[in-house]
Amino acid sequence: MAEDLTIISGNKEDQYQSLIPQIKALLEGETDLIANLATVAAALKEQFMNLWVGFYLVKNNELVLGPFQGPVACTRIQKGRGVCGTSWAKAETLIVADVEKFPGHIACSSLSRSEIVVPIIRNDNVVGILDVDSKEPGHFDETDKKYLEQIVDLISF
Ligand code: SME
Repeated sequence: MAEDLTIISGNKEDQYQSLIPQIKALLEGETDLIANLATVAAALKEQFMNLWVGFYLVKNNELVLGPFQGPVACTRIQKGRGVCGTSWAKAETLIVADVEKFPGHIACSSLSRSEIVVPIIRNDNVVGILDVDSKEPGHFDETDKKYLEQIVDLISF
């Protein structure tokens, strides 16, 4: 299989619909978690060119940085802290239109203006989160939520 990604223009819906089957194909037959998380982070970064996209994994009751694309970021986040730790504690996707208005937001990059965090849930437990940051305020919406939740479901843990 060629590891090429076809990048398309168009609206968000079109972009996710082009990307999802490609992510499925890229993950097919690969069982290594880190390889698969790295592939998903790279594919999202290539298509959407957001500031930061990556994973944190739950290890010993904290979130530890996993594969990502973008500027260096904090390596550990406690449960209930920041957008990521809150998404983990609530086990729900959080869309933050203005990170400066989110109490306790952890500013890994001063360029980040909006953010979406999707929990990865397996057997009723949050095993990690997908975090995407944008330089633009109000960048993420229900379309991102719908498709990013589908994308994390494609990853075997
Ligand atoms: N902003 C996140 C921290 C992670 S970085 O953005 C990569 C938060 O508040 O949890």
